[in-house]
Amino acid sequence: MERKWWHNKIAYQIYPKSFKDSNGDGIGDIRGIIEKLDYLANLGIDILWLSPIYKSPLADQGYDISDYYDIDPRFGTMEDLEELIAKAKERGIGIVMDLVVNHCSDEHEWFKKACEDPDGPYGKFFYIEDYKEGQPLPCNWRSYFGGSCWEKLPGHQDKIYLHVFHKKQPDLNWENPLLRKEVYKMINWWLDKGIAGFRIDAIINIKKKLPFKDYPVDREDGLSSMENMLKEATGIGEFLGEMAAETFRKYDAFSVGEVFNEKDSELPLFIGDNGYFSSMFDFSTTGLGQNDQGFHAAKEITPKEYRDAIFKAHERVEGIGYLSNIIENHDEPRGVSRYIPASGLSCKSKKMLAGIYFLLPGIPFIYQGQEIGMENLAQVDCLDQLDDCANIDVYNTAINAGLSEKEALEVLRKHSRDNARTPFQWSAEKNAGFSEAEPWLLVNPNYKDINWESQVNDSDSVFNFYKKLIQLRKNPEYESTLVYGTFQPAHTDIDNLVCYYRRGDKTLVVLANFQDKSIELPLASNINKIILANRADITYNSDTIKLLSYDFLIAEVTK
Ligand code: GLC
Ligand code: CA
Repeated sequence: MERKWWHNKIAYQIYPKSFKDSNGDGIGDIRGIIEKLDYLANLGIDILWLSPIYKSPLADQGYDISDYYDIDPRFGTMEDLEELIAKAKERGIGIVMDLVVNHCSDEHEWFKKACEDPDGPYGKFFYIEDYKEGQPLPCNWRSYFGGSCWEKLPGHQDKIYLHVFHKKQPDLNWENPLLRKEVYKMINWWLDKGIAGFRIDAIINIKKKLPFKDYPVDREDGLSSMENMLKEATGIGEFLGEMAAETFRKYDAFSVGEVFNEKDSELPLFIGDNGYFSSMFDFSTTGLGQNDQGFHAAKEITPKEYRDAIFKAHERVEGIGYLSNIIENHDEPRGVSRYIPASGLSCKSKKMLAGIYFLLPGIPFIYQGQEIGMENLAQVDCLDQLDDCANIDVYNTAINAGLSEKEALEVLRKHSRDNARTPFQWSAEKNAGFSEAEPWLLVNPNYKDINWESQVNDSDSVFNFYKKLIQLRKNPEYESTLVYGTFQPAHTDIDNLVCYYRRGDKTLVVLANFQDKSIELPLASNINKIILANRADITYNSDTIKLLSYDFLIAEVTK
């Protein structure tokens, strides 16, 4: 694998609306991020991905962009952003922007012009079809946020447009070379500003299987999951290859794709040496326990499933390319609440989960608040308490499946994206130190117990454990092994044990006892020294090691 500047980096995702409010309007903003740059530099972050801050009606929290060349006033100004880029650079941090180009906002001028003249050049930037009342729609795809993916074109009774996400997110027509040219121009305009790269949103949806047709109905709503269509849509590589050549590659920029459903044979194309992207997220664990029916039908995830998923994901890309590893992001509930059984949730098990994913090959991404062990909400009383546009469909799907209102709210409590979007818990002060004013979304009531201020000086805190993991990845003694060493799972026959080797200049073993009971494990190699652990007094001899519940360690071994 060719060596690239991003291989040894640590990335951090900011959800700007919930990170830090600088001007007391209850909404996080760019100046709030500038205030916290030293915090991030101190933690050891190299790459900072900002969820969208472009001009937007915020129907999907900024993933609906109405002007790609401007900043939403709620987040600040272009000058603020330029200052952030410059000040981040001074601290060795590169800014990665969110690239949302499967769709734009229905308030973008392209869409407005398309509505004025659907047959004109901007009509061809979208998927607009003729429609007669009472006739079947062009296809029965279910939008990701529920309901049909077709909506009446404003001002035209006889026309409809496609939106695979929210109806305020009309899909851009990538088959049109003029649209693609506009997109590349915009990407390069940003790269010229000195950003380090892009996280590429929902990109797998840009290739549609055409002409439109129905797929098998898979829910009572008479619609069909988008995945059924995506499986048949081939040829995305032409768009992605062109985009990489026209933009990222020219700048040696970092690009990380939100990619799902790729086939094994496509991996080198996506993330190989000359791939479309520098990296793509490993989402192998985020879908665990789920099925077509909806979140209410999701099952609990076992440690074995979690381990098998990450192992498979990394074995699959070994020698090909680099994954970006996460335990959560702004679209997922908090990882600690999701992957650790409620009965075992503690600072110790949070550190264990952190250690497991952080030392895998690839680029570790920390989602804001993860480094202090932020958790899901413990209770949701009503729909109004939450905000995300996806909630309604999750709730209605649960109700339609026969759940009570209370049970449907419990489904949201566990699965809503708002779990990750509650404000960052900086301190035990009012509004968790996030804002002077009442925040746009509720603060998790546990902020008095879980907050950064109470952890920063506690050497045993989750926060300081993350710091140690980052320092370990950057320690010259271990860096090349952790970055470029091979990945080798071990003891996969033992349930609830996560064990893998990283072999490079050194041989390192990662061990995690992902359960509520102790185990004694035979050792295949001699432990020279434990480098980092979540319990100080782990004991071992030449042939065995004893692990208590949720113990985690990384050790240097002889072979
Ligand atoms: C991606 C984003 C998500 C958004 C969707 C539509 O999945 O991460 O937040 O809702 O795309 O842009
Ligand atoms: Ca603000």
